[in-house]
Amino acid sequence: MPSTPEIVRTVGGLRDRVAAWRRNGERVGLVPTMGALHDGHLALVRRSLDDCDRTVVSIFVNPTQFAPHEDFETYPRDEARDLGAIGAIGTDVAYMPNAGEMYAEGFTTTVSVADPSNGLCGAVRPHFFQGVATVVSKLLLQCLPDRAYFGEKDYQQLLVIKRLVRDLNIPAEIVGVSTIREPDGLALSSRNAYLSDADRKTAPLLNAIMRQVAEKVAGGVAVAEAETWGRAQLQENGFDPVDYLEVRDGETLAPITDTLAPGHPARVFAAAYLGKTRLIDNIPVARIL
Ligand code: PAF
Repeated sequence: MPSTPEIVRTVGGLRDRVAAWRRNGERVGLVPTMGALHDGHLALVRRSLDDCDRTVVSIFVNPTQFAPHEDFETYPRDEARDLGAIGAIGTDVAYMPNAGEMYAEGFTTTVSVADPSNGLCGAVRPHFFQGVATVVSKLLLQCLPDRAYFGEKDYQQLLVIKRLVRDLNIPAEIVGVSTIREPDGLALSSRNAYLSDADRKTAPLLNAIMRQVAEKVAGGVAVAEAETWGRAQLQENGFDPVDYLEVRDGETLAPITDTLAPGHPARVFAAAYLGKTRLIDNIPVARIL
């Protein structure tokens, strides 16, 4: 029966719960989040509930992935609502460490992942992937799940996490889950809560313009030309600044020059501001053909 998940706030407490499940031969899934949960997060939790016997959802707004000028202080937080939402679908444990539990006094170790962190969000938020890689490594080592679930909306983040797990031999399978969208195409994000009414009306154009870029590239238009067209469209529609709109290899994130070869697993990536809200999205080129 759905109920409130058990709240665990310490590494030791989490390890005890997981060890007891393991003694019973149960499979454990971890869904790392920063709270302000929406249906995109709940899709990750449902996937874990389907795949695993036990599900831990971590809720930790990680200070090390925010630059000083970014929205760490104002990032939406609603613990009671989050617990209700994950409890209603059957989550076993909500892991909610405080910053001192996660980063002990004198903490100096960081994890940085070279290739997949370069370019795109890594270029405009240079601190970001090291903060994510460090906290996700810690969460995986604190919980030692069989599987951990991440949204494809943060596709570059997903590739960074897959790479660190491989490179550091962390024994967890990383599962990417498709982006959940509003009916008008806007990708769900906790930061959508920042959008003014007017900006909310404009926001779906990010995905609509990306789809047109994907169509152009799939139809043989040169990648650079399609990217320039897409960036201009975003700017004309009030996205300012446009951090990037780029077509890249969907597996390596290598830039694509020239036109797209048939069967190339390309994706369109974009990040742009509407007012103070930074929106990001990515779509595969092939799927829309
Ligand atoms: O995607 C997120 O919400 C965060 O970057 C993550 C993976 C929970 C790490 O803090």
